[in-house]
Amino acid sequence: MKKTAGIYIHIPFCTVKCMYCDFYSITNRLEDTPQFIKAIIEEIKLSKDIHNKNYDFDTIFFGGGTPSLIDPIWIDKILTNLYKTFTFKKNIEISIEVNPGEIKLEKLKTLKKIGLNRISIGVQSLDEKLLKFLDRLHSPIESIETYKNARKAGFDNINADLIFNIPNQSLVQWEKDIQTMIELNVDHISSYSLTVEKGTVLNKEVNRGNIIMPNDANDKRMYLLAVNELIKNQYGQYEISNFAKQNKRCLHNLHYWNLDPYISFGPSAHSYDTKKRWWNTKSLDKYLKMISNGELPIQGYETLNVNEKFNELILNGLRMNDGIKILRLKNVYSGSDFENYLDKQLKKNSRLYIKDECLKLNRTGMLFADEIASNMFI
Ligand SMILES: C[S@@+](CC[C@H](N)C(=O)[O-])C[C@H]1O[C@@H](n2cnc3c(N)ncnc32)[C@H](O)[C@@H]1O
Ligand code: SF4
Repeated sequence: MKKTAGIYIHIPFCTVKCMYCDFYSITNRLEDTPQFIKAIIEEIKLSKDIHNKNYDFDTIFFGGGTPSLIDPIWIDKILTNLYKTFTFKKNIEISIEVNPGEIKLEKLKTLKKIGLNRISIGVQSLDEKLLKFLDRLHSPIESIETYKNARKAGFDNINADLIFNIPNQSLVQWEKDIQTMIELNVDHISSYSLTVEKGTVLNKEVNRGNIIMPNDANDKRMYLLAVNELIKNQYGQYEISNFAKQNKRCLHNLHYWNLDPYISFGPSAHSYDTKKRWWNTKSLDKYLKMISNGELPIQGYETLNVNEKFNELILNGLRMNDGIKILRLKNVYSGSDFENYLDKQLKKNSRLYIKDECLKLNRTGMLFADEIASNMFI
């Protein structure tokens, strides 16, 4: 039987590079769009025989970078080629990331017309000064306008990405951001703590002592504030950083967290077939060159052994509110006595519990999910 899987397309173009971002993105290359789309379509064709027999796809996610910068004609071309090449389920979820202020109503309407049905808006913050600090080009008002335009264009599944634990962000400001999103009635909220990633300007400035990151206590306070406010307002938390109104969970991201297969196209894109993970070259130029030579633009592979698979299940599963199916864990466990292993973990950690045949963390446990998970690794 074919497995259900997701497709990710990475569009690397951005107007500026934000100081905290380590995703592969490049500026001043938008004029290469036609050549880039040709390469993406070529990559799709090159992988046809590898994937088509294995999967029924039910999600497509255009991420970046800033996919909303390119003309929807190109998105449509990619979709047409995906439909021609792979097998899809009915009523699939098709998402796109858009930057506030960098997409007009007409473009949103065209995206809706060509079949996109989920929009993810990079709001980040609704405070003018914090947006400037983060190098964002948009104002708070532009974020709200983009949201309202997405609604006008007919989207009934809209996410807002928010960031907390930004230096000089107060708890009151953060609460206001959350409240505004609730009042706007967005369907889904991703609430991320600002992380200092290697190679970013933020990292450099923190190392030089020019920027001081808020402490862990602040991070936890802001995280819990968001959880409490959102849950009170009918947003179900389904993953540490993700909250959704009923039936508005992001099916594509669920594929990642459930360790379902996903295949990805574009520079830096990662794919996974439940046994191995592989990733494309990060350089756009190298990507274009490899494709023009008729090669798949793969830079590396990693095969997961049974223990690594088990550990990944723990790491991803404990971050989700539904937890991990005990039976699934048991089937992957390589030791001789799974019941004994599980019993020990439950005794060692009072934040772990079993409900509906799934292993879960309670609300405070979620604050330490990564630490608890790594202590459970085999
Ligand atoms: C890579 S961006 C792409 C989408 C779009 N270009 C944007 O900026 O909104 C995806 C999301 O990742 C999150 N993100 C990126 N870097 C982050 C960091 N260092 N800490 C926390 N969140 C981050 C942001 O919330 C952002 O909306
Ligand atoms: S955060 Fe978004 S807009 Fe900023 S550099 Fe990263 S991908 Fe580009």
